[in-house]
Parts: sequence; C-alpha cells; structure tokens
Amino acid sequence: MAKKIQTIGILTSGGDAPGMNAAIRAVVRTAIANGKKVKGIKRGFDGLLDEDIVDMYDYSVSDIIQRGGTILYTARSEEFKTKEGQDKGAEICRKHGIDGLVVIGGDGSFRGGQQLARRGINTICVPGTIDLDIDCTDYTIGFDTAVNTAMEAIDKVRDTSTSHERVSIIEVMGRNAGFIALWSGIATGAEDILMAERKYDIDEEQIVEEIIKKRKIGKKHHIVINAEGIGHSYEMAERIEAATGIETRATIIGHIQRGGSPTCTDRVRGSAMGALAAELLTNGETNRVVALTKGEYTHYDIEEALSMEKDIDQFLYEMSKKLSR
Ligand code: F6P
Repeated sequence: MAKKIQTIGILTSGGDAPGMNAAIRAVVRTAIANGKKVKGIKRGFDGLLDEDIVDMYDYSVSDIIQRGGTILYTARSEEFKTKEGQDKGAEICRKHGIDGLVVIGGDGSFRGGQQLARRGINTICVPGTIDLDIDCTDYTIGFDTAVNTAMEAIDKVRDTSTSHERVSIIEVMGRNAGFIALWSGIATGAEDILMAERKYDIDEEQIVEEIIKKRKIGKKHHIVINAEGIGHSYEMAERIEAATGIETRATIIGHIQRGGSPTCTDRVRGSAMGALAAELLTNGETNRVVALTKGEYTHYDIEEALSMEKDIDQFLYEMSKKLSR
C-alpha cells in the first residue's frame, strides 16, 4: 500500500490563468483540513530548482479567490526540461519532505509533473490554462474568464468598426489552440474564424470575395477572428485592404485575456479541481490528472491523460460557418 502523504507541495507553472488562485486556496485548505502540511513552491519548476519554498497555512490563501494571476507566481522552466533538472527537482522535493505534489498548469507543466511522478513523487496535475487545450478534460481553469474578456473586447472593436464601415482582423490568444477563437467568434457573430487546427480551410481570396459581396448588400462591418497560431494579423489587414479597397484594421487583444478577476465558473470549478487534487493525495491516489468530463469531476492516470488527443468541436466549427452568413 502507498505510504501516507504527510506534506503536499503546490506550484503553478506555464501561462497564468484566472482561477488559479481559487485552485491554490482549495488545495491548501482541503489539505490542511485533512491533517496535511502544505508547502508553496514559487515560480513553478524554476522555483523548485531554486528551493523557493514556503510553508502555507489557511490564512496564506485569504483574500485571493477573486484575484487574477497566481499568488505563487509562475514560469516556463527551461532547466526543468532537462534530465538533470528533473532529477534535481525530485531530490529537492525529498529534501523538503514533499511527498505529494499538485501542479497547476497546462500541457507543458503536466509533462514536468509526469517526470517527477516517474521519479517517485506522487503528483496530481490540475488543468490551468486559458487555452482549453488539455486533452482529457472539457474544462480548464481560466478559459471562461479569458473567452469572456475576448468577447467583450471584440464587441468593443465591432462598435467602432461598424461606425467606420471597416473590416477588422482581431487576434486572440492561442498559439496552438483555437478554442478561444472559436468560442469568442461564435459569441460575437464574427464573419470568419481562423485557427491553426483548420488552417487548410483558410482561403484569403474567398474571404476577400465575401467581404466585397457582403458590402454590396449593405453589411457595415466584417469581423475576422484570427487565432494567435495563425498570427500575422497586421500583414493580413494590409492585404485585405489592398484587395477590397475597404479600410481594414488589425487589433491584437493580447495578454489582457490572461488577467482579470475570474468568473464565477472559474472560481467554482477551480476550487473543485484544487480540492479534488488534495483529496486524491489524501486518499493515497498517485500520479493523476484532474478533469471535468461530461459534467463530472474525475481523474486520469498521467500517462494515459498525456497520450490523449483533443480537437476543436467539429459541430461548433461547422455551425459557426453557417451562422456567419
Ligand atoms: O498560456 C497560454 C498562452 O496565453 C497562449 O495562449 C499564448 O500563446 C501563450 O500563453 C503566450 O505566452 P507568453 O505569455 O509567454 O508570451
């Protein structure tokens, strides 16, 4: 039988996401309620390697559930991608008595967690990324806030775009994932939604033809949502303006999508996922990824979770094309 966990470490890693603080709070308070000690590791795996580790108590997580970002800070660690870094990280966990670890982050962070798990540190991963691109779960902490921020920003650009009768190319976050583009595009009635997962569908000549056709029948604006994974929005705007003769502007919404007070959904689900992670460690479960699948909180083996593949929802994608006429 697995040895009982005494001390739970917690870190956030990769891009921050609104709702991470709710998850941290839930891990800390659930673990303490279950009689465990908690150690906060600052700045993700970089902080682990630097032994930037502090004791955490119930009051350490007061007044944070409503705040964006992560009170533990975050980083994308290059050193932790190496075998030496991973060996050192596992040794540091042992040195500090950390026998259970919660990693809150995205896919890259989970791969770091997987390496620690393989080195005997019981690790539970919690999906925290605005990109929604964790394969085993229908929800990731931060997506709801980020996509609502994107939606509000697009609505605002659309107001001025309509007044000036312009075309707008609006770039939203998601280097490898088009979920924010698809959802915010549907929610704002965008005419085109471009994303890396469907890049072979992109036909700029057809977009130009559509813009001209719709302008002739009286449409006052044309919104193109462009995922970061496609990028080059300024160049695209120049090409479209040259081809259509209609003023075209590019707007890159950028990092405001990663900040701000989390929505109710991100607070509640972030809390639930954090609490589940602490319960799993308390109950002797090892090396799991917490998920929300078909409306139920659940968990998968890390190795299994990291071998799954996710695509954008084809029904939503096809629907978006029909609704944007
Ligand atoms: O964390 C996800 C994300 O916001 C992606 O959507 C984006 O591509 C990337 O992080 C940007 O990272 P950085 O803040 O390091 O530029």
